[in-house]
Amino acid sequence: MPNTHHRRRRQLLRAAAAGLIAGYLPGGSARAVADPIIKRRIPASGETVAAIGMGTWITFNVGSDPRARQQRTEVLRTFLDRGGQLVDSSPMYGSAEAVLGHALASIERTDPLFAASKVWTPDEDATREQVARSERLWGIDRFDLMQVHNLVAWEAHLETLLAMREAGELRYVGITTSHGRRHRELERIMRERPIDFVQASYSLANREAEQRLLPLAAERDIAFIANRPFQGGRLIDRVKRHPFPGWAREAGLANWADALLKFIIAHPAVTCAIPATSRVDHMRENMQALRGPLPDEALRERLARHVARL
Ligand SMILES: NC(=O)c1ccc[n+]([C@@H]2O[C@H](COP(=O)([O-])OP(=O)(O)OC[C@H]3O[C@@H](n4cnc5c(N)ncnc54)[C@H](OP(=O)(O)O)[C@@H]3O)[C@@H](O)[C@H]2O)c1
Repeated sequence: MPNTHHRRRRQLLRAAAAGLIAGYLPGGSARAVADPIIKRRIPASGETVAAIGMGTWITFNVGSDPRARQQRTEVLRTFLDRGGQLVDSSPMYGSAEAVLGHALASIERTDPLFAASKVWTPDEDATREQVARSERLWGIDRFDLMQVHNLVAWEAHLETLLAMREAGELRYVGITTSHGRRHRELERIMRERPIDFVQASYSLANREAEQRLLPLAAERDIAFIANRPFQGGRLIDRVKRHPFPGWAREAGLANWADALLKFIIAHPAVTCAIPATSRVDHMRENMQALRGPLPDEALRERLARHVARL
């Protein structure tokens, strides 16, 4: 398996070098040169992706109500118009995938979407069936990234997903957790299996991933998606009750959402943060984090100390 993985990695790198994958930036630089949008390299390929993505848990689970669907379409349109690419969903999120599919069908797009969903079923034989169902719901031919959700039946699903990747039916394979659950097992998978992405919780108020997961992701060339960047809303609600500090504004940060998200994507091992929102005005705030200067280590620590006191 490692040989196959390395062969594929070489193929993808060759494709990137030949200019087949747009926007390749050497060295993992957080600031693009020609492109003002902050992008990060996916280590498995060298391809880049915008460092702010979009989550859909709860926020896109709005069923078939036409007004709610139209409103979420505007949230997605705002995300894509501002340079967003990676959208993360799951069969676990109720109607979210169907609502996404409806929104995608209504939006005329020129920029590439980076479609990421998950396999979430204890049935070890249902991997392909679930991926096919999600493709139908999204209205796409192929996922960029398919992740095993919360390590559920992960051995069997991972084996099938890796075979699908090998056959070109998926581009990348990953595995997810959240709330700090089962990190040791996740670490073992990261060490032993040829996965491209890992997803776990990481935010200014939950820095556990800095201890082991993020260094391991960097060491193993695995892209890292930070979920729950606002701690499910708790963190941003708390900080927004306080004025945004002048020293943070002087350092080039626009508002609380910008600061919390840039704190995350400034970590060198993070590929993408995926805040979820049901509101266009919040999406506009969040997407500011795709542009402008990133905080250095001293500023990150100052932000963390300040927020801890609020
Ligand atoms: N195991 C897993 O695989 C796993 C687990 C957890 C999460 N995830 C993924 O990660 C994504 C993000 O995590 P999450 O949805 O749990 O939480 P989150 O992104 O940390 O927080 C979402 C909450 O923040 C609020 N919010 C967003 N932007 C805001 C802004 N600018 N100002 C004020 N409030 C704002 C939203 O409310 P409004 O709607 O009012 O804006 C929403 O209630 C999920 O949607 C999902 O895709 C994956």
